[in-house]
Amino acid sequence: MSCCHNYYVTAEGGESVFAVDISSISFGHGVLKEAGEHARHLGMSRVALFTDQRLAGLPYVAQVRDALRASGVDVAIYDEVKVEPTDQSFIAAARFAAEGKFDGYVSVGGGSVIDTCKAANLYATWPADFLDYVNAPIGAGKPVPGPLKPHIACPTTCGTGSECTGITIFDLLAMQVKTGIASRRLKPSLALIDPAATYTLPKNVVAASGFDVLSHALESYTARPYTRRAASKSPSLRPMSQGANPWSDLGCVAALKRLGQYLERAVNDASDHEARDEMMYAATLAGIAFGNSGVHVPHGMAYSVAGLVRDFRPEGYPQEEPMVPHGMSVIVNAPSVFRFTASACPERHIHGAACLGAETKGATAADAAEIVSAQLIKMMKATGIPNGVSGVGYGEADVAGLTKGAWAQQRLLTNAPRDISESDLGTLYRGAMRYW
Ligand SMILES: [Fe+2]
Repeated sequence: MSCCHNYYVTAEGGESVFAVDISSISFGHGVLKEAGEHARHLGMSRVALFTDQRLAGLPYVAQVRDALRASGVDVAIYDEVKVEPTDQSFIAAARFAAEGKFDGYVSVGGGSVIDTCKAANLYATWPADFLDYVNAPIGAGKPVPGPLKPHIACPTTCGTGSECTGITIFDLLAMQVKTGIASRRLKPSLALIDPAATYTLPKNVVAASGFDVLSHALESYTARPYTRRAASKSPSLRPMSQGANPWSDLGCVAALKRLGQYLERAVNDASDHEARDEMMYAATLAGIAFGNSGVHVPHGMAYSVAGLVRDFRPEGYPQEEPMVPHGMSVIVNAPSVFRFTASACPERHIHGAACLGAETKGATAADAAEIVSAQLIKMMKATGIPNGVSGVGYGEADVAGLTKGAWAQQRLLTNAPRDISESDLGTLYRGAMRYW
């Protein structure tokens, strides 16, 4: 691709091939009613339906359950999924999956539900010590030995894109850190995406999940080009986090334009169904994009922002335990990070900001850092996002701990367009403390 994409010039010994894996997707109003027919087509006769306790009482779960039963599929519901799952909640879900002897899985919920379903399917199908499949260096990073049972994912938030990726994320309680499992085998067989599921979401949930989408798209678009990775010795060793590539660029740009146009509207007016529909589609586009390229530093830093939380309890989320919602924990780092990475590919940072609505006429490479960070800060302020890392409860005394957790996320850090050191990470957290 070096002929027409300057970003993708293959270096000596560098990768010359990029791979595209996507789930099957059905998108649109009323699609959840099709779950039964799809389940039969995938060979399911007895499924575990994963959800959480809040969602279990809402109509989407009933719609999917009824559609499955109407097609003759036996359904057992697991509604114990923990919002922001942990190793322990994954293990409990996997036990349920193993005991039920299911031949298929269905998830109805946000990223936590879909991720938990992926993990339960994995450990029930290919039992192993819990850390075996977890990303190195925290876990052993062993490959998943074979295909999992079919999984139909039905997202009810417009954020994580988990329905389109082979990634599952959780808190490893003993180490107080978020980490995950990444394998193409985890990718759901089918995503059924009904944008109407977002109409009842609280404002803060739409804001956090919307900025998760935004950061997926902007990180993926500005990731290190796939051509700068060493060539994979075999196709099976080519990582999903392969870096920016022409396929992912398409989804990123289309998602960023929608976010620029609709994010503020979707957050600030629950009755604006057009905006919420477009946000759901943006999440899907960004999901298929970053699932094939990988995200980088804002997500890497987010893991410790979420994992070390002390007393932050955002409106619109369960109040029993403190938490920093995933998208919020990502976006509070983003302006600081993109200021740092802009010099590596300024034209991509400027174009990304322009897609989001920034004025970029006459901008030069030297303006990229300021343009992209200013646009993000403007959108954060307009949608009630906390003012940087201090806005979710951290201060200067926390920088060392935050940095230590983020430094463990090498899979993400090495996907950045610039090399980054541990002391750079400390500087980025300091730069992310307050923006206004
Ligand atoms: Fe994310």
